Amino acid sequence: MEVDSKGKGYLVTGGAGFIGSHLCDALLKSGESVICIDNMATGIRENVARLLENPCFSFIEGDVRSVDLEGLSVTRVYHLAALCGVPLVEHEPLEVILTGIEGALRILRWAADRGVRVLYVSSSEIYGSGDMHPQSESYWGHANPVGPRSPYVEAKRAGEALCRAYRIKHGLSVRIARLFNVYGPGFRSDDPRVIPQFIKSAASGNPLIIYGTGQSSRSFCYVDDIVEGLIKLMNSEVEGPLNLGFPQEVEIGELANLVLRLTKSSSKINYLPAISEDPQRRLPDISRAKRLLGWNPKVTLEEGLKRTIISWFRGKE
Ligand SMILES: NC(=O)c1ccc[n+]([C@@H]2O[C@H](COP(=O)([O-])OP(=O)(O)OC[C@H]3O[C@@H](n4cnc5c(N)ncnc54)[C@H](O)[C@@H]3O)[C@@H](O)[C@H]2O)c1
Repeated sequence: MEVDSKGKGYLVTGGAGFIGSHLCDALLKSGESVICIDNMATGIRENVARLLENPCFSFIEGDVRSVDLEGLSVTRVYHLAALCGVPLVEHEPLEVILTGIEGALRILRWAADRGVRVLYVSSSEIYGSGDMHPQSESYWGHANPVGPRSPYVEAKRAGEALCRAYRIKHGLSVRIARLFNVYGPGFRSDDPRVIPQFIKSAASGNPLIIYGTGQSSRSFCYVDDIVEGLIKLMNSEVEGPLNLGFPQEVEIGELANLVLRLTKSSSKINYLPAISEDPQRRLPDISRAKRLLGWNPKVTLEEGLKRTIISWFRGKE
């Protein structure tokens, strides 16, 4: 992967997590030095151990809200640290919202004091469950501020607003990526998101659980494509939020059947009641990213799932 920012030193918060570790890999491969901050709330220890084999990688274990940032010298920050996933959002609402808002505030303030560029990783969740389809960046969303998803959604919305405020008040150079669902090798074995759950169930012969009828849709982007988009966005002059996701809609029922076919599993599909306020459809309009970054994700869902499944079975050997 091409990275045109030689010699810049990066901080990646949340770098021990799923997307963050792939991002650290790509930056290191291009010869950059990377400092990762992660409190290991949902991070993966093996990611850190593997990355530490590269002398250009350093790891600081700590909470992005309180860890000592004084001595750090970098010129760019990717801010990914966040608590994600329905169970955490449901059971740890305060920790989710405070990690999101206080973490973003701390990083933006620190970066503004030093003239360091920040790429803030936001989410398609900020669009809520409105009628606009596909979702473009100009859509303001339809989200319930006191609903079951609100700790995560409102933290991301506040994070974006903080980015804007720091740009206006302190001239901070800041980029905002709105990611739609991301998948690929290297997820946590207890990752609650739909693709990891389906693969695990299919591989172990357990039923795949679908909440609702299976007709709600999502789009799934392979992690390498997302990392490429994040790097391009960081190196661009694009201001304002940018969608990054795969522009193909798939129903959850179809996804389950695809996973069953690719894993050659005879697991059943069980249907449970729909999750409250779960958006019915999600599909990114990525025309802005195509036009401004020349970014166009390449890995199809079937190809990406094959790679993810192979990696899952290798991890079990
Ligand atoms: N995976 C997706 O489909 C997706 C979609 C949209 C947005 N995102 C965003 O992308 C980013 C990365 O997501 P991911 O899928 O890699 O999740 P992840 O849970 O694998 O990674 C998040 C990382 O942040 C760390 N972290 C949490 N709280 C922290 C804190 N207070 N201090 C330091 N580190 C902390 C966790 O330990 C973890 O390693 C998140 O900001 C998430 O909201 C992800």
